[in-house]
Amino acid sequence: MSLTKSNPPHSSSTLSIVLLAAGQGTRMRSSLPKVLHSLAGKPLINHVLDRSFELHAAHRLVVIGHQAERLTQHLQDQPVDTLIQQPQLGTGHALTLALQQIPKECQTVLVVYGDVPLLETSTLQRLVDLCDGQHLALLTEEVMDPQGYGRILRDQNGQVMGIREHKDASVSELSIKEINTGIMALPRQPLDQWLQALTTNNVQGEYYLTDVVQLAHQQGITINTCQPRYPWEAMGVNSQAQLAKLERAFQTHLAQRYQDEGVSISDPHRFDVRGQLTCGRDVLIDVGCIFEGQVVLEEGVKVGPYTVIKDTVVERNTEILAFSHLEGARIGPNNRIGPYARIRPGSVTAENVHIGNFVETKKTTIGKGSKANHLTYLGDTQVGQRVNVGAGTITCNYDGVNKHQTIIEDDVFIGSDTQLVAPVTIGAGSTIGAGSTIVTSTPPDQLTLSRSKQVSLSRWRRPKPKQD
Ligand code: UD1
Ligand code: CA
Repeated sequence: MSLTKSNPPHSSSTLSIVLLAAGQGTRMRSSLPKVLHSLAGKPLINHVLDRSFELHAAHRLVVIGHQAERLTQHLQDQPVDTLIQQPQLGTGHALTLALQQIPKECQTVLVVYGDVPLLETSTLQRLVDLCDGQHLALLTEEVMDPQGYGRILRDQNGQVMGIREHKDASVSELSIKEINTGIMALPRQPLDQWLQALTTNNVQGEYYLTDVVQLAHQQGITINTCQPRYPWEAMGVNSQAQLAKLERAFQTHLAQRYQDEGVSISDPHRFDVRGQLTCGRDVLIDVGCIFEGQVVLEEGVKVGPYTVIKDTVVERNTEILAFSHLEGARIGPNNRIGPYARIRPGSVTAENVHIGNFVETKKTTIGKGSKANHLTYLGDTQVGQRVNVGAGTITCNYDGVNKHQTIIEDDVFIGSDTQLVAPVTIGAGSTIGAGSTIVTSTPPDQLTLSRSKQVSLSRWRRPKPKQD
């Protein structure tokens, strides 16, 4: 099963999405722009963009400011418009600039933040539906610690009247626990006029987008609110600690979803997917594993502790033992890989292959039933069926300039500590004596060895320590 994205939902009004990302992110204390920091292996801003692509929108605009050049470059292949807000005079100012670029036919404007990466598409869709081109829809949340957030002001009937920023709030307003997540859907038609009415009469001297709520209320526009389904959805990233906390919350949630689908995960708190992981039935994943890019674990696969698997397919009933590292590989069924195996790009194994500890493979295919159990390097190699590669065998595939192929045909037995100097072919059924350096191809079914003759010196005596 694969946790894939849903199809784009239908939207009743024409939607424009504005992604705010002009802020500096000082508290990250990093030279990397905040929205380019990674969560689950993907930059924060790409999480928001990917969600936006799942919504049926006519137009998407990203507002950038700090490190605009770097962000423009990052966004160049994305189907979005960008706008540089310089200087950054507040969220209201950002949207005022954005509005000039929003096509006339858009009736709903959805505002999302580049540093709030994990909103569910369904939550955003609910907001868009609640706005419906004519109302104001706010994503709010009841939190234990509302410190720093804008507070939702309601009248005695529970109607929203406005939002008060933390820094501008009175003592009684500070006790309000319902906060503004910042994510909102606004009706396009009255928005121009609301934004024009914004002032900087507040503690921060900024144009607050949140001030449009009071204006809407005064004009009798309905203000709808809805809450995120999961507590981490509307969490923003302002510091490294918040980023790590959000990463854990997200990964634990993912782990639980895989568990619901029947995957055995030894510890959902030590499980990381940085890409797309697809699992068959009865897959078992031990602690501390990391899955990057596109990874497929077919039915019955077991992954031992502290294993990293990237862009790899592992076929049915194969066992990957502890501390192995696999990248860009296709591992056949009923294999046993590791512990401590390093499987590099272009490695392909057939069924019943064993690759043991401290074995490295690269651009190498290994036939059915073959084994390389200890301390071996196989690079640019074709290994046939039923081959036994002895401990310490090294393919010398690189002459300092070019790479060369080694071919090991079926039923070969290679003794330990052998160097195969490529290009070289080891004929079917060959046996290579231990400790050989093989520089020319070997005939089939013969023993080949290259070794200096063993001598014993009967008159030799071990030197004695010097006497003072
Ligand atoms: C904002 C909300 C606050 C809410 C909080 C949630 C306002 C006035 N306040 O406060 O009610 O509780 O978010 O996190 O909107 N940005 C720009 N241009 C600007 C200023 C900000 O693009 O001129 C972007 C930032 O990059 C960020 C987002 O807008 O992605 C929010 O800005 P931030 O400064 O974090 O707003 P808060 O003061 O936290
Ligand atoms: Ca913020």
